[in-house]
Amino acid sequence: MFSSDVYTRRREILKKRVGSGIILLPGNEESGINYADNHYHFRQDSTFLYYTGINKPHLAVIIDIDADKEILFGDEATIDELVWTGPVPSCKNLADSAGLHTHRPYDEMEKYLHTYRADRNIYFLPPYRPEHLLKLQKVLGGSNREIRDQVSVPLIKAIVDQRSYKTAEERSLIEEAVNITCEMHVEAMRSARPGMKEYEVMSRVHQKALEHNGQLSFPIILTVNGQTLHNHYYGNTLSDGDMVLCDAGAEIGMGYAGDMTRTFPVGKRFTNLQREIYDIVLQAQQSAIDALAPGIEFREVHLIACRKIFEGLKAVGLTKGDPHEAVEAGAHTLFFQCGLGHMMGLDVHDMENLGEEYVGYTDELKKSKEFGLKSLRLGRKLEPGFVVTVEPGIYIIPELIDQWKETQKHKAFINYDKLDDVRDFGGIRIEDDFIITEEGTDLLGNPLPKTVEEIEEIRRETLQEIQIHN
Ligand code: GLY
Ligand code: MN
Repeated sequence: MFSSDVYTRRREILKKRVGSGIILLPGNEESGINYADNHYHFRQDSTFLYYTGINKPHLAVIIDIDADKEILFGDEATIDELVWTGPVPSCKNLADSAGLHTHRPYDEMEKYLHTYRADRNIYFLPPYRPEHLLKLQKVLGGSNREIRDQVSVPLIKAIVDQRSYKTAEERSLIEEAVNITCEMHVEAMRSARPGMKEYEVMSRVHQKALEHNGQLSFPIILTVNGQTLHNHYYGNTLSDGDMVLCDAGAEIGMGYAGDMTRTFPVGKRFTNLQREIYDIVLQAQQSAIDALAPGIEFREVHLIACRKIFEGLKAVGLTKGDPHEAVEAGAHTLFFQCGLGHMMGLDVHDMENLGEEYVGYTDELKKSKEFGLKSLRLGRKLEPGFVVTVEPGIYIIPELIDQWKETQKHKAFINYDKLDDVRDFGGIRIEDDFIITEEGTDLLGNPLPKTVEEIEEIRRETLQEIQIHN
């Protein structure tokens, strides 16, 4: 973790912005898989991590602005527990490490809130785990809905206003995660062979994160069916002629994430059509990267990429008409159904639990409800310190084509006759991570092979002794 001063300073800023009242920051609990003592990997709440750095379950912090108190609530391990866990830090050690000068037993948190709830506002974030909701209900009473209605928007906004701007120390930790992520992708490209199962390659990608004492920042997507945006099935066999879409990221011990995607041929080369479509996605990504700078809305960057995709598909004969008009009408969403990217930091979709309307949008710029734009997690103006992903893709989804074709939706822009030939194409996504700077943007982490030539070179080296067609 960072030195205690970092956390003290972060809380000072938060207190100034919120002004008065009691801020409640519950940490996460262990979560049993099939019985209480057999848990999922423990993941601390990212906001709790941001303001304390303490990566342990069953803790909560109260920041009482009016009483000028910051209290860590937690329990000392009993001797019965120590028999199973070995020595663990005392609550005093944990509190000191975060610059919190008071600690109390966990149960006193409820008493504290009960005592002061009549004369102070209690501020809390949207609960995303059942145990958060239960704790809040115990303290504040009321139904699930009533608790959700009391979530503090000023607290959300104050936190988003801090966590969106990554400091130099945070940038270097994100780059550490991105560099492990790069290794995971090189591993995928160097280990995939025709005849292997997707899960065999996926397990090697996962191993790279573990090898660096890391975890996954989200479940790996590794599939020959890249057209399914979040495909978590790994049972297909890789065949020459297929492409593998690998979307994976590492999370390091302090919680920072990487998130990248590469798409590569199972054989030594892309087919002609695969290469053409790949280059369209690559050009769309490059045009988006060129546009990244402080002051531009990410929504506009997204639309630049959408137009490039539409233009490219027009050159291949799948679309027709004016790209501006087509994108304005939403015709490109037959091929690019989601958003160009999202914020990244302590969460792979940073702060998504606080609400996309606050993280990715503003009071003036609201999220669209249109197919395509409704999946754009980030629309607001970029500012120095924001960390974002840029991940355009082309996804040929037969079910969506069939649905649109039935009503000839956007027929002025889509060459439906040509789509039959590409029905089984699959999907291509290319994703890298960037930080917005005063001047423009910097790629985070080491460059990872990305052009057709670079990817085919890796695949040729990997498969050199194997006789295959592609
Ligand atoms: N890389 C997974 C996602 O951004 O949703
Ligand atoms: Mn992503």
